[in-house]
Amino acid sequence: MDALETDKPILSAPMAGAAGPELVAAVCNAGGYGVIPLWGNSVDQVSAGIDELRALTDRNFAVNLNLSFPYKDQLEACIDKGVHGVSLFWGMEPSAIARAKAAGLVVLVSVGCADEARIAADAGADVIVAQGWEAGGHVWGQVSTMALVPAVVDAVEIPVVAAGGIADGRGMAAALMLGASGVWIGTRFLASSEATIHSDYRARILQASEADTQWSHDLYDVGWPAAPHRALSNSTSKAWADAGCSAPGNRPNEKELIGQRPNGDPVERYQSYTPLPQTVGDVEAMSLWSGQGVSLVREIMPAADIVEEIYLDAKKSLQAGDVLS
Ligand SMILES: Cc1cc2nc3c(=O)[nH]c(=O)nc-3n(C[C@H](O)[C@H](O)[C@H](O)COP(=O)(O)O)c2cc1C
Repeated sequence: MDALETDKPILSAPMAGAAGPELVAAVCNAGGYGVIPLWGNSVDQVSAGIDELRALTDRNFAVNLNLSFPYKDQLEACIDKGVHGVSLFWGMEPSAIARAKAAGLVVLVSVGCADEARIAADAGADVIVAQGWEAGGHVWGQVSTMALVPAVVDAVEIPVVAAGGIADGRGMAAALMLGASGVWIGTRFLASSEATIHSDYRARILQASEADTQWSHDLYDVGWPAAPHRALSNSTSKAWADAGCSAPGNRPNEKELIGQRPNGDPVERYQSYTPLPQTVGDVEAMSLWSGQGVSLVREIMPAADIVEEIYLDAKKSLQAGDVLS
């Protein structure tokens, strides 16, 4: 993909907690483009995170920053470090796009509708990430990938990367047919050997069907309020649904401590938290982020093999010209 100077137009989606330097480097080294989430960190931690990733790959990558958390100093750290790209999500901030662009970074902006894509492109974005409603984790818009991608492609003249529900070569081929220049894949990489998630979480990903996820406006709102998201249905979401999907403040067992992070910090029920490998407690009841494409995720594989398989299968799908004959 020219805008990203990468061999294969496959991007590993930033996944806070789950997509660390090993996963991102493996994708970059396999010819894809990795995006590392470094938001929520201090400036020094952002710089250290970039150094850590650079020790594992000399390929291009982008740093993902969350616009609803402090990001300005973190963006300056990315600029000082001369990273190839920056990916901005959860908001629209033309001044941040312009600042990164003026500093020479490739700017990727996540959107949920065509109007946002136009604003981002006018502000100088290089690549639009069109995130459909099928996506796992926090989901910015409410339009499905199938409808969103062509609408965004028609709205802007810059490359569009499709996100949400894409987990294999067929999905990639479909996205390219809709006009996307590349794909941004999250849930499938949760089943990579390099993803840093708890084994119970990974086991649920490998078993879940396309109907096993739940989108909610504010279920896992502790630590990040009013931010819609999609996660696997579990005992927490089922008890909440049985109680009538009540609003925060009125949900079953609020403030209950259900586990501990590897650093000893407590995990509360309804907390926005990606269970890391050494998490202890009731992992099943935590926010097990997942997209609807989860039914296509059936095997743990090295990230490089996932990139290769998706790329070759997409190529095959696109070369099979006899579909309509
Ligand atoms: C565990 C997890 C964590 C995520 N964290 C982030 C994040 O930190 N930054 C971000 O821009 N998107 C985040 N997302 C959303 C992904 O970047 C991406 O849009 C989504 O995974 C695409 O849909 P898919 O899961 O169906 O492939 C996360 C998704 C998951 C599954």
